[in-house]
Amino acid sequence: MAFDKNNPFLATISERETLNKTGSKKCTVHLSLDISESGMQYKVGDSIAVFPTNSPIIVKETLQTLRAKPDTIITDPRTSAEMTLQKFLSTRANLAKVTKKWVQYVCDHVASHHEKDALESLLKPENKDKLKSFCQERQLWDFLKEFPTLEPSIKDCLPLFALLLPRFYSIASSQKMHPNRIDLLIAYFKYTSNQHLRHGVASYYLCEMAPIDSPEIPIYIHPSKDFTLPQDPSTPIIMIGPGTGVAPYRGFMQERTSQKATGKNWLFFGDWHKETDYYYSDYWQNLEKNNHLKLSLAFSRDCEHKVYVQHKIFEEAEEFWKWLEKGAVLYVCGDATCMAKDVELALHKIIEEQGKRTTDEAKSYVKEMRTSGRYLRDVY
Ligand SMILES: Cc1cc2nc3c(=O)[nH]c(=O)nc-3n(C[C@H](O)[C@H](O)[C@H](O)COP(=O)(O)OP(=O)(O)OC[C@H]3O[C@@H](n4cnc5c(N)ncnc54)[C@H](O)[C@@H]3O)c2cc1C
Ligand SMILES: NC(=O)c1ccc[n+]([C@@H]2O[C@H](COP(=O)([O-])OP(=O)(O)OC[C@H]3O[C@@H](n4cnc5c(N)ncnc54)[C@H](OP(=O)(O)O)[C@@H]3O)[C@@H](O)[C@H]2O)c1
Repeated sequence: MAFDKNNPFLATISERETLNKTGSKKCTVHLSLDISESGMQYKVGDSIAVFPTNSPIIVKETLQTLRAKPDTIITDPRTSAEMTLQKFLSTRANLAKVTKKWVQYVCDHVASHHEKDALESLLKPENKDKLKSFCQERQLWDFLKEFPTLEPSIKDCLPLFALLLPRFYSIASSQKMHPNRIDLLIAYFKYTSNQHLRHGVASYYLCEMAPIDSPEIPIYIHPSKDFTLPQDPSTPIIMIGPGTGVAPYRGFMQERTSQKATGKNWLFFGDWHKETDYYYSDYWQNLEKNNHLKLSLAFSRDCEHKVYVQHKIFEEAEEFWKWLEKGAVLYVCGDATCMAKDVELALHKIIEEQGKRTTDEAKSYVKEMRTSGRYLRDVY
């Protein structure tokens, strides 16, 4: 049977381990999912999509602020399916997102003039930025709690909930080595806003809430278009992936090992501290010891100045350029906001300096790498 977003497979968490050592201020979790009997096939570089369940504490808080009973039968406005309100809030509704529509609804249904005035002011066009940060700082339950005279109608509220969307995670294993398993590396999101400690919905679900050894994690494969190993196993590869960006490269290296691939492999990895945040260190070090991997490490908070993967690229600029000229495929995975942009700037600089190219020639070089499938990114 083919599993997809309309028919996800219920995978079982068979292993869950925090990879950071004691003393780390990060929480990055290794997860193994058992996919036996599913017939699911993936290639290295693919991701999976996971449908998370909201935290029962947040569901309870939301029910309380809506003064609603969990076993009320409702009709999902998107699918017309009937279910309990508890199920709708747990699996279908985004309980974290306060939208302008919610603010308008509450404004229209509070009994107190004081509360109404405050919301009307927030909804004025000139207060657009204030409204944006007001919504960003709150989740639905703490927003609703601030307006205790609200008299909500559950039926009218249902269409206001944004949809709880699936989350994507890079597969950190190769099916050639582990036919019935999908490994993941997950950054567990925790942050404070409006004086409440928050958890990322899916990372909380996967890293803490979901039970081990129970077939109940809804997933499907999200194939990557081109972020995968080159056809020719003798092609050299350069993998850049700080933080959870390293996940797909574990799959790449498992596959290269099982193929007995002769192509050279170079990994740029880093995170906060070498002592505590060096994920899968034994695996990478073993590969390095056996001459299967060149390893360049950038631990950003081990010294006074930040050290990032692009600094390591500059330290080995000459060698990096030689690999590019020998046809290496360059992969970048992880944070899109800063890391991937800075690595791209570094790439341009290396081509200009080492390849003696002008700025425009370097741009064309990178463009050519992209079009020929030699510069591949999976950034989020
Ligand atoms: C193709 C792809 C592959 C991916 N692979 C991986 C992977 O291998 N490993 C991995 O860990 N992740 C990966 N991700 C990211 C992952 O899909 C989720 O986005 C991530 O886990 C967060 O989801 P969440 O439900 O835990 O957090 P959410 O509940 O979605 O919360 C995150 C949101 O919280 C808010 N937020 C966060 N911090 C703050 C703050 N300090 N103040 C206020 N608001 C804040 C922001 O709005 C942020 O978008 C990937 C994403 C894509 C698209
Ligand atoms: N809110 C949370 O609890 C939480 C938890 C985990 C992850 N996240 C988010 O999840 C995403 C992925 O996180 P992750 O754990 O995989 O790691 P990450 O945040 O991407 O960090 C990995 C490494 O990259 C470094 N880095 C930061 N900016 C960089 C840049 N411009 N160029 C190169 N390297 C850079 C980091 O250093 P420095 O951090 O020292 O600058 C760190 O050493 C990020 O967007 C992160 O913000 C949030």
